[in-house]
Parts: sequence; structure tokens; C-alpha cells
Amino acid sequence: MEKDLILTIEGKAKLYVPNPKMYTRTNGVYEPSWAPVFYNPLMTFNRDVSILSLEAALKAYGVRDAFVVDALAGTGVRAIRYCLEVSSVGKCIANDIDPKAVNLINRNVKLNSLEARVIVRNEDANTLLYKLKLKERLKITLIDIDPYGSPGPYVRSSLLAIRRGGFIGYTATDIAPLSGARWRAGGRKYDVLLTKTDTYLDTGLRVLLGYIARKAAELERYITPCISFLRGHYYRVFIKVDKGARKAEEMRLKQLGFITYCNSCGYRATFTLSEFPPKTGSLRCPTCNKQLLIIGPIWVSSIGQRDFIDKMLDLVRSRYGYLQTSKDISKLLSTLREEVNAPNTFNIVSASRAQGVNVPKRDSVIECIRAIGYSASKSHLNSTYIRTNAGWLDFIRCVRSLAKPSNVS
Ligand SMILES: C[S@@+](CC[C@H](N)C(=O)[O-])C[C@H]1O[C@@H](n2cnc3c(N)ncnc32)[C@H](O)[C@@H]1O
Repeated sequence: MEKDLILTIEGKAKLYVPNPKMYTRTNGVYEPSWAPVFYNPLMTFNRDVSILSLEAALKAYGVRDAFVVDALAGTGVRAIRYCLEVSSVGKCIANDIDPKAVNLINRNVKLNSLEARVIVRNEDANTLLYKLKLKERLKITLIDIDPYGSPGPYVRSSLLAIRRGGFIGYTATDIAPLSGARWRAGGRKYDVLLTKTDTYLDTGLRVLLGYIARKAAELERYITPCISFLRGHYYRVFIKVDKGARKAEEMRLKQLGFITYCNSCGYRATFTLSEFPPKTGSLRCPTCNKQLLIIGPIWVSSIGQRDFIDKMLDLVRSRYGYLQTSKDISKLLSTLREEVNAPNTFNIVSASRAQGVNVPKRDSVIECIRAIGYSASKSHLNSTYIRTNAGWLDFIRCVRSLAKPSNVS
């Protein structure tokens, strides 16, 4: 083996990957983008969740002999792992535009004796996906899009290429534009009105899902998010895609929408496209009368399915207990299952500051909201966020009733 490669094990796969010691910053941190072929051990969590997502999806929908396309494959780790670890996967394509990556994928495929099941391609991902759909007429069960930065350039081709009832996993590492921290770039890339709010990590996930849903509607397809989450420097969403103009229209009107936001007091309200503009006709904040800002169109519906997440939880606690990140995955899934259906996300710390009161305990706010008849939970996105179907005014009532006045302005 060359000195710039090491042998590693991830899940059930053996892999040659770039030797991290050769691509390390002066502070000792490995920089995967410096290596000739990209492999980031920190993304094992993402890949482990992807394995569980596909297993849960194939079980839930009774799919056999699934065909998977890993469109931006790097070392080929995903395609190889889908073949080795997901029970109903038949064949995979592992594709990368870079010949160095393709070379390494071929070696890794051989190392795992998967020559008969992993087909290696060396094309631009969009060209490949259009070809697979329009020329080769392949029925693809899962497309995995794991690019550098934004998955935006591959959204249309993947939605077109996936079979009816198939699945797509997208990774996005461009959190700053998506979330509104870099709102001009986000606005351009994802074609939305954007501003940075105190719950910007939630905005980012909804901008991403909203963009995918709008592209799907263009193609008379509609999406169901099975699981969506933030982890460290990336978002990952795993969606089911179905076809039909009527349902696509229904999705557009009822699951896409806008948030109106007051950057003075933090007030916000969520509207579906069919409810927008608000019946009051006013875009003034009802609590402080400032001009409201508009965010959207974004996804305003569930970011996952509780049944689906429960299936993943069962799997990670049983057959998939061997996954390197199984404990962390269980923790994430346990939080996610509570929060996926809540339309509103509020920040207890910034809301308390704006109200001039001390920050109450998160659990007390959650209890208070539940006591007045709404759902409420913590969020995996940030420890200062809560998820609820209560509106802003009820949330603030709870914050104020629980907090003692302070001098914080
Ligand atoms: C983030 S890496 C993929 C990492 C890999 N999926 C994993 O889990 O380790 C992105 C890969 O996309 C490849 N790539 C970049 N642009 C591409 C394109 N237009 N078509 C196909 N592959 C592309 C790069 O060569 C790189 O290997």
C-alpha cells in the first residue's frame, strides 16, 4: 500500500482512505479537503444514519432488490456500505467526476469483493442522473447526494431520476447561506427571502426542504421528509418522492409558506402559501407595531415522520448496535421524534431578553405550554430552542409567567 493511504474500517466496510497524517494543519487537525480523495471520518455519523434511513425505508415500504446511486462517491464508502449493510440492496452505482476518486473506488470495491454489485462510473453527477433516467431508463430506489457545500445543483436531476416512491438523501454543509447568517448568498442560491433570526438553524433546514419541494412541484412530484437534522457543520435530509400533479399542488399550498418575523421583539407567525398574505392584511408586528420581515417560501410542515424515526430507533438498538455512532444516533433520534411535527420554533433566551425578564428553565416553559393544551418539546438544533404548535403570544405568556423581572434589556 502507498504511504499516502491507510486501511480503515467503517461499519462493515474495509476501506483504503487518505492517510490523515499527511493532510494535517499545523494545529494537528486533519483537513480532508487537502487529500487527493475526500474522506472525512467525522461524517461517519452521517453515513451511519444514512444506512439506518435506507433500511427503515425499505422495510417500511416493502422494497426488495433496491438500486442505489451514490452520485458523489469520493472513496465509494457509501455505495459499499449500502451493499454490505442494508438487507434489500441489490446493486449500487458509485460515481465521481474525479479520476483519482474513481481509482480508489475501484480498489475499495475489490477489497470488499463487491465487483458484481457496485458499478463504478466517472461522470458529472447531473449528466449521470439525466442519463440513467432518460437513456438507460433505470429504476433507482435511492439517490445519495453528498457534495461539497450546497446540494442545490443536484436537486432537479435527482428528483427527476428517482423512481416513483423512491428516496433521496441530501447533505448540505452550506449552513451559513441556508440559515440566513449569510442571507444574501442564501437568497440567491435558494431563491428565497431570508433574514437571520434567533432560530436561524431551524430556518436553514426549512429553506433546504422548501427548495427541494419547489423543484419537486415543478416536476409534478411531491416530497415527504422522513428524517431531517443538523449535526455539527451539516444538515442531512432523507425524503420520499412521489409523483402526481394534484398532490404536488396540495404540497405547494399547504406545506410551503412564509414566516413573518419582527427583528425588534422576536414575534413571528407561520403561514402556508394558501394562508398568505395574512387575513388582517397587515405586515406590522401585533406586539410592537414594527414592520415585519418575511422569510420564504420555505417548508412549514413536518421535518420528519415519527413512525419512521421510531423504526430507526428500533434498528439502532437491535441489529445496528454495531454502528460506531449508535449511542449518539439514539440520542438524536429520541429528541427528534418529539420535535418533528411542531410548526414553530422559539428561542427562550432571546425572547426573555426582549421581554426584559430572566430566562426561565426550558423544561418549565415546555410544561407551561403543554398545560395550556399545546405540544412542546426541546429541539436537537440548539439547547435554547423549543418546538411547539403554540403561537408566539402563548409562548411569551409562559416565558413571562415563569420568569422574574430583570434589568436585562
Ligand atoms: C464531499 S465529497 C463526497 C464524500 C463521500 N460521499 C463520503 O461520504 O465520503 C464530494 C465528492 O464529489 C465529487 N464531485 C465534485 N463535483 C462533482 C460532480 N459534478 N459530479 C460528480 N462528482 C463530483 C468530488 O470529487 C468529491 O469526491
